[in-house]
Amino acid sequence: MNGWTIDHVAIVVADLEATIAFYTRTLGFEQLYRETIVDQGVEAVGIATGESVIELLRPLDEASAIAAFRGTAATKMHHIAYRVTDIDAELARMREQGVRLIDETPRKGAHGNTIAFLHPKSTGGVLTELCERR
Ligand code: CO
Repeated sequence: MNGWTIDHVAIVVADLEATIAFYTRTLGFEQLYRETIVDQGVEAVGIATGESVIELLRPLDEASAIAAFRGTAATKMHHIAYRVTDIDAELARMREQGVRLIDETPRKGAHGNTIAFLHPKSTGGVLTELCERR
């Protein structure tokens, strides 16, 4: 066991208000946070059911890569984030194993987390985030 647990699953959306309404009113999830992450070019809304968090991402710029990834879909699964206790050590471990890193050094993410992305070319096509709560 590596000690990783799923921190959140992120979905990029076109209509943020409609998607929030679906998750909170229809499904009954609870909104935890809402913040703009300028360096990732998104507005992020965390919604929870029990210990599980879904993060909705709205591109700030519809000409951005993340908006192009979503394309014409209303929503699209974007990444899985794993919570780790020592992101520096885990990034070093990934690098040693030849995993291609998007972030060579951790940076600030949503909700006070420190994060780093692994490249989907090294993770079977799934954009993967490591995050540490600090
Ligand atoms: Co994330």
